[in-house]
Amino acid sequence: MAALAPVFRKAYWALIISVFLYITALIALTNPWLQRHVLYAHKVQMTWLQDINKPEQFGFAKNQITPFNFTTPDHETIYAWHVMPLGLYAKHESEILQQPSGFADDITQTKAFQLLRDDPDSRLIINFHGNAGTVAQGWRTDSYRALSDGSTSNIHILAIDYRGFGHSTGFPTEAGIITDGVAAVEWALQVVKIPSDRIVILGQSLGTAVTSAVVEHYAIKGVNFAGVVLVAGFTSLAELLPGYSIGGYLPVLSPLKSTPALLDLFSSQLVDKWPSAIRLANFVRLSKRVRLFLIHAKDDYEIPWSHAEGLFIAAANATTDEGMDLELLQKMKARNTVDMGDGSFISTWKSGNNKIIREQVVAYGHHSRVLTYATVSLAALKAFDLDDGGTLPV
Ligand SMILES: *[C@@H]1O[C@H](CO)[C@@H](O)[C@H](O)[C@H]1NC(C)=O
Ligand SMILES: *[C@@H]1O[C@H](CO)[C@@H](O)[C@H](O)[C@H]1NC(C)=O
Repeated sequence: MAALAPVFRKAYWALIISVFLYITALIALTNPWLQRHVLYAHKVQMTWLQDINKPEQFGFAKNQITPFNFTTPDHETIYAWHVMPLGLYAKHESEILQQPSGFADDITQTKAFQLLRDDPDSRLIINFHGNAGTVAQGWRTDSYRALSDGSTSNIHILAIDYRGFGHSTGFPTEAGIITDGVAAVEWALQVVKIPSDRIVILGQSLGTAVTSAVVEHYAIKGVNFAGVVLVAGFTSLAELLPGYSIGGYLPVLSPLKSTPALLDLFSSQLVDKWPSAIRLANFVRLSKRVRLFLIHAKDDYEIPWSHAEGLFIAAANATTDEGMDLELLQKMKARNTVDMGDGSFISTWKSGNNKIIREQVVAYGHHSRVLTYATVSLAALKAFDLDDGGTLPV
């Protein structure tokens, strides 16, 4: 027995030190600069060794992607990729191959840009990525292929790195990132001159919060998009954090869950709030036409799929004048839910023919890989009215 005592003493001290370090880390996180570094992880990137001005390194055809910059009203420089659909590329390959490669000082001089601008049937997905990394990180490049590679596709993609990310200037804040998102849409509307009804806004993870803010901004101005696709979204940062696991493994704030007062205290220290459920509800209320797709994988261990439910309820509620209580909303949702097998399902909410909200919980895809799956590409096609027009048996 006596021999065990030092072991226990060591374990005891290890525990005390861990708790102390954990509390110190939490207190340090009340510093806005540090908090934003942790939240946005914009300096964490895996593409250090690759030149993102050479998209061939990520498997694209030469000059299929044009890297370029645009500026925001508050003078940040935002780095972006214009991805052209492969089918269209094939039709113009010899001409495109003769053009200069890499970063374009004036994108309007490129054939790819001109094809996007001049074709009355071209369509554009504006893509807002999640935290960390760049436009070229992880599953993102595969997702551009999945969204635009059909042989007859005329779907172009604009992907941006928010301020402070990759080659973009500045430091990320909620207001700043929203400004960047709006500036991306303005670039499409003013420079490409593509009408908003040929634009889909698509976001994943943090990008869903950016999307919600951007579409609310435009709904207030009376501008409607072809559709809005949110993949692995969350209702608000304060509601996300207690259940969030970094990389799906590290539930950083779960020790606080048992003490609601501590959790409230921590939430009150959040400098950025990202209230997506409220913003989406405003968007739905103010828009004349809504095609909103909420996609979440059941096996997403970073952000639980219950957040898609929360977003759906908030958006559906906003289609009614008076609002409904949760019980009635859930009853009506259940009536309009189709079981797709393996625990996956689709809930469709229609308010007349003008507002359609669709929540699709899929069985597989985790947090990021799901971006590359057919469900997301199909949602974009539906938003562009490139499907058979059906909205599933309800
Ligand atoms: C694009 O932005 C990057 C980062 O600010 C900058 O280094 C580069 O000079 C810019 N290029 C042009 C053509 O503005
Ligand atoms: C629906 O909206 C109304 C206000 O319009 C609100 O009072 C009600 O709580 C909302 N229902 C849910 C379930 O959020």
